[in-house]
Amino acid sequence: MSEKLRLPAEERYGAELAALGKEGGGKPPGWAMTPRAVVTYLMGGKAADGTAISPKYVGDRRLIETAVSTLATDRALLLLGVPGTAKSWVSEHLSAAISGDSTLVVQCTAGTDENQIRYGWNYAQLLANGPSREALVATPLMRAMETGRLCRLEELTRMGSDVQDTLITVLSEMMMPIPELNQLVFAARGFNIIATANNRDKGVNELSSALKRRFNVVVLPLPSDPREEVAIVVKRVGEMAQNLDLPLPRNVAEEVARVVAIFRELRAGSTEDGKVALKTPSGGLSTAEAIAVMVGGISHATFFNKGDLTPDSLASNMIGAVVKDPVQDKIVLGEYLETVLKKRAGYERYYKSLIDQI
Ligand SMILES: Nc1ncnc2c1ncn2[C@@H]1O[C@H](COP(=O)(O)OP(=O)(O)OP(=O)(O)O)[C@@H](O)[C@H]1O
Ligand SMILES: [Mg+2]
Repeated sequence: MSEKLRLPAEERYGAELAALGKEGGGKPPGWAMTPRAVVTYLMGGKAADGTAISPKYVGDRRLIETAVSTLATDRALLLLGVPGTAKSWVSEHLSAAISGDSTLVVQCTAGTDENQIRYGWNYAQLLANGPSREALVATPLMRAMETGRLCRLEELTRMGSDVQDTLITVLSEMMMPIPELNQLVFAARGFNIIATANNRDKGVNELSSALKRRFNVVVLPLPSDPREEVAIVVKRVGEMAQNLDLPLPRNVAEEVARVVAIFRELRAGSTEDGKVALKTPSGGLSTAEAIAVMVGGISHATFFNKGDLTPDSLASNMIGAVVKDPVQDKIVLGEYLETVLKKRAGYERYYKSLIDQI
């Protein structure tokens, strides 16, 4: 086990990436593997030499094919979706597969300025020796351009529109001017941008139409099929528990199915059979929330319940996920418990634990 809490994808899955990189076929310039191999890396399968490739993204293969083929053109990729639909996760794995490096990331915020996108200066050097390449501090975007790799821009729509528009020159001319040095940095082959944005948050800055035109948008949806969602949660919870050194209780899959069923109904605003209309809580209740609830529950079970994963260990985390607004969401959850869960076979202990704790 690694001493680090988390390794970048290219280190965690180094063996898979190496096997796929050896596969023959046309690689776009600057790519570490063929587009087909990139899709196999994300969706799982077998490399040509027989190495098993674990699935990273569970969902529609065509979405990943579209994302990969976009990156092989001069258009950038924008992954859009509600929170917790694996946008950052897919972006990390795409960069690891295509460039062998997923660490060139800019986290965009309302406070991000042009210096964090283009380049900054080491002021001690700048004052001592004047503007020079040594005094210039390259951003991840500039390093990606120079080395022909992918640059990841997380939460693109959180930064101001004026700063976003800095990307227009980069994407349309594939170069970045440095007027202070009278130099231009031209992007090496293999350079492109993967941005993520979530379409639920308030206070975001819409992309200008000039910039929008330079991105291909791929929308990552919430899983439509309950079995698919359960499979995602079981898989990720297993990986995360192993990473945290938590023993996996035997009944994980059953409890995941129940938690996911509850979250899906609350999210959709109706029971799975469509018979009862429900109010929806203010939070997102995504797959990622279900994963977090399960991991929290397993930790609680391990340290406080002799390793037994019970609805009691999960209830407080479930309430934390559902009740984001302490007044309204409590009413929504209370109504759901009384009208739906109370009468449902197999959910008695969930009803009791949840009602006791809200
Ligand atoms: N379809 C899926 N396949 C595999 N993993 C998934 C899927 N959906 C969600 N996950 C898991 O959910 C977790 C959260 O995903 P991630 O952080 O990438 O979400 P996000 O879309 O970037 O959310 P945010 O908008 O909040 O940044 C990850 O651990 C990821 O593995
Ligand atoms: Mg994200």
